[in-house]
Amino acid sequence: MTTAKNDQVIAANIAVHSRLAAIYEKTEPHFRPENVRFVEGRLRELAARTQATRMLDLGCGTGFVIRIAKHFVPEIHGVDVTAAMLEQVDRTGPSHITLHQHDTGTFPAEAGTFDLVTAYSFLHHLYEVEPTLKTAARALRSGGCFYADLDPNFYFWQQVESLERGGNYAPVLRREIEAVAYKDEEMQRTYGIDAETFSHAEYGKDFLGGFREEVLREQLQRAGFGQVDFHYYWFLGQAALVNAPGVASDVRQSNAAMVDETLKAALPLSRPLYKYVGFTAIKA
Ligand SMILES: C[S@@+](CC[C@H](N)C(=O)[O-])C[C@H]1O[C@@H](n2cnc3c(N)ncnc32)[C@H](O)[C@@H]1O
Repeated sequence: MTTAKNDQVIAANIAVHSRLAAIYEKTEPHFRPENVRFVEGRLRELAARTQATRMLDLGCGTGFVIRIAKHFVPEIHGVDVTAAMLEQVDRTGPSHITLHQHDTGTFPAEAGTFDLVTAYSFLHHLYEVEPTLKTAARALRSGGCFYADLDPNFYFWQQVESLERGGNYAPVLRREIEAVAYKDEEMQRTYGIDAETFSHAEYGKDFLGGFREEVLREQLQRAGFGQVDFHYYWFLGQAALVNAPGVASDVRQSNAAMVDETLKAALPLSRPLYKYVGFTAIKA
């Protein structure tokens, strides 16, 4: 690992997330109830499958995953480099929650002691993912599961970035061009975060262009995982269907589910239409 560059990316993350910590949950769309329900479904299923009593959440931030999982996992550890994010974590409730301010790439997790490791909206904040994949593999017992989600899908990013800013496209595409290629400018305008610093905080997105399933699979296997299953999330235009004005909530949800099912059936051809990629990986 190039230490200086890694240090720069970590410092950028601390700067950005210290600035955003207090408002983070109000501004990030993944805290919306429909996404919380979706993630809760996945976590409950994985906790049941692994009979999880100990869980490790990497890049835990303000505790998005912890807040969901504490109702069914009795012991949870969260790791994050930004003190201001960790200060926001609600540690009340039925689970025993321990927080560690540490880089996940060098976090000394006790080997083989966790049933479930999670990383939500996190891996693209790293300069290199492999040290953190190794942390996850070391932490897990054999047969334990690593679940990561809401990381940028390279194939979507690549297509959107190839489009011209201000081009004659539908609003849904124009919005994505801004969100994908120019989010750093918006962060500078809205929060006064230096655009260069913001880009470094999302190194895996802004410099590497997101994750390719086939590259990540090899990296996970090298880190010590056996079976790896990828899934794709949030198709282009899903927001318009889910938030369609004047349409009943159950109809909006079922319309979105129908399109999702159709696109999923068309994978891998439809892969560039999904914004995010995630996976479950089983420790060999
Ligand atoms: C987008 S937030 C995601 C937080 C949380 N998982 C969620 O879903 O809301 C990314 C988090 O990763 C943390 N982070 C970035 N680089 C890190 C590193 N090398 N080690 C540990 N945490 C890191 C940041 O401080 C930030 O809290």
